[in-house]
Amino acid sequence: MQATTTTIPLTCSLFPLQGSHGAVGPSKCNHPQWRNLQRKCSQKAFQITAQFELKPPPYPLNALEPHMSKETLEYHWGKHHRTYVDNLNKQIIGTELDGLSLEDVVRITYNKGDPLPAFNNAAQIWNHDFFWGSMKPGGGGKPSGELLEIIERDFGSFENFITDFKAAASTQFGSGWAWLAYKANRLDVGNAVNPCPSEEDKKLVVVKCPNAVNPLVWDYTPILTIDVWEHSYYIDYRNRRPDYISVFVESLVSWEAVSSRLEMAKVRAVEREKEEERKRREEDEDIIDDAEPAQMYLDSETEESEVE
Ligand SMILES: [Fe+2]
Repeated sequence: MQATTTTIPLTCSLFPLQGSHGAVGPSKCNHPQWRNLQRKCSQKAFQITAQFELKPPPYPLNALEPHMSKETLEYHWGKHHRTYVDNLNKQIIGTELDGLSLEDVVRITYNKGDPLPAFNNAAQIWNHDFFWGSMKPGGGGKPSGELLEIIERDFGSFENFITDFKAAASTQFGSGWAWLAYKANRLDVGNAVNPCPSEEDKKLVVVKCPNAVNPLVWDYTPILTIDVWEHSYYIDYRNRRPDYISVFVESLVSWEAVSSRLEMAKVRAVEREKEEERKRREEDEDIIDDAEPAQMYLDSETEESEVE
């Protein structure tokens, strides 16, 4: 079965779409939930416990040449990615988001499609860390083993997957990302409309997202991404996004990284199923515990009325 590609719109009228360096400072946003986060913090004399760091790519900045130049990495990682980190740290100081994991900040600030000011910077940090790890010097080609088997199972063939992935990356209007993700969640994730409302689960899907949005907000587990913001390819490819996408697939993708991410995604899905089953059992036991006294009371009433 072919995976679907879907674009999820951002809907918050209070949240301007940021440029490559843009960010909305807390003092400029009147979003009621954002004000609430700040108010709670001032009431608690919140202690600053964490600052996010700019992680370097897992290779030297010139290691992806000639496919992605050192100059591109110097701007893309050294300036754009750095700005997201600096802006997020400024935004969350003194809020209840301070001290949370980056993934939690992304999920919470997505706020059911009505993003809070920190969402764009938080998601862009996560996306770029993930993007650098999606590539390696001498990458590309074709995966093997279980990853290839699952791609062929879910897309019909590796070639079909490549067609879908390239289509998602090239048709994302304006800035955004294309993803290969492992879908192993319930349909209602409580945070966003699921872009693949299929009964099928535990499968790979291709999705595309505008701006900073990523599949974490649907509780999918991403395993590969390509950045299609212009800042990722304009130095090397000018306006030829399709050329950049082809080179990414043919010469840069680290299938080893994608394969290990798939393994982790499957383990995570199994662990979550066990946790959900445990919660279901506890809820069932609570229902039984609550029901038992009522039954006894009814029984005694019945007996009394029978005696009368
Ligand atoms: Fe980027």
